Amino acid sequence: MRVKYLKRDLTTIRSFLFLHRPKTLLMDKHTIGSTVGTTLDRFINDKQAEFPFATGELSQLLRDIALAGKIINREVNKSGLLDIAGAYGATNVQGEEQQKLDVIADIRFIRALKNGGEVCAIVSEEKDDLIRLNANSRYVVAMDPLDGSSNIDVNVSIGTIFSIYRRLSPIGTPVQMEDVLQKGDRQVAAGYILYGSSTMLVYTTGHGVNGFTFEPTLGEFLLSHQNMKCPKNGNIYSINEGSYQSFEPSVKGYLQYCKAEKYSARYIGSLVADFHRNLLKGGVYMYPSTEKAPNGKLRLMYECNCLAFIIEQAGGMATDGQRRIMEIRPTDLHQRVPLFIGSSDMVSKARTFREG
Ligand code: AHG
Ligand code: MN
Ligand code: MN
Repeated sequence: MRVKYLKRDLTTIRSFLFLHRPKTLLMDKHTIGSTVGTTLDRFINDKQAEFPFATGELSQLLRDIALAGKIINREVNKSGLLDIAGAYGATNVQGEEQQKLDVIADIRFIRALKNGGEVCAIVSEEKDDLIRLNANSRYVVAMDPLDGSSNIDVNVSIGTIFSIYRRLSPIGTPVQMEDVLQKGDRQVAAGYILYGSSTMLVYTTGHGVNGFTFEPTLGEFLLSHQNMKCPKNGNIYSINEGSYQSFEPSVKGYLQYCKAEKYSARYIGSLVADFHRNLLKGGVYMYPSTEKAPNGKLRLMYECNCLAFIIEQAGGMATDGQRRIMEIRPTDLHQRVPLFIGSSDMVSKARTFREG
């Protein structure tokens, strides 16, 4: 008798649970089998297969850069534990005080690219001159090995920025300056690594932008942000307003507009981190000319061009206030330009203040 009642109760409980089951499944069936979670290596290989005449050299170079990123990530993560924080005791070609991690990142990056063998020359923020590597290789790399040096010692996000060009002179001959001083619209790939609350690698080869998050226990970058798009408009503006007094009237005018629109001011002081946030959320980053930096502070070859390529691929814009960044012909390895980059409507709006 008791067994019969127990069975009846169980049936009632089962029907109750079935009727009140969660309406959404924990995993949407459409996400099963999606490419999110693909390793960077697999992704690069799959993409290469889409280009019938690809030789695999660019794919190998991208893998070498990812390896350098993992190594720098390891070093960055030890900051505070080992004696790798603080000033190195020297200045770079631009008269800026080098931090120990700037120098470590530079060494690690150059070593990884040298060992990889796919690069004929490197332009680095930390080196006055061109670094000549394998003359039998096809690619030139411009890089900011560690961006956001002022944030290293205070545990705030920093990054690495890179840009890849195909050389113009024949393979096997000495690299010429014209191989390196190419306009941004000649880039074949560009990307950045963000050492933030998680470490991410974001890159483009001119077919959209994809982001990969580092999974430290696997030691792999996994696809997490597929086909990234920057919102057309946004409400974040990022600028070091401490220099307000020396901004041109057009920049002051646009800042007044941002305030009137009640936009949010967000400025980390690491270009990569500020850029990444605005790419995801919609916003504009500005580094205009100032009294201290009449041509702006940021470098065309290894900061502005790389991020300009990425933002355009994500539907955004990058100008020096007037001209498209990627159309500026570089004349110097360490040339600086003003930068206005982010959501296309915001960058366009900033430009209207200059025009009228
Ligand atoms: P880097 O550390 O490679 O020299 O670059 C620092 C740059 C950039 O990351 C940042 O947006 C900008 O400098 C901040 O400059 P201010 O301190 O003048 O705002
Ligand atoms: Mn930098
Ligand atoms: Mn740097």
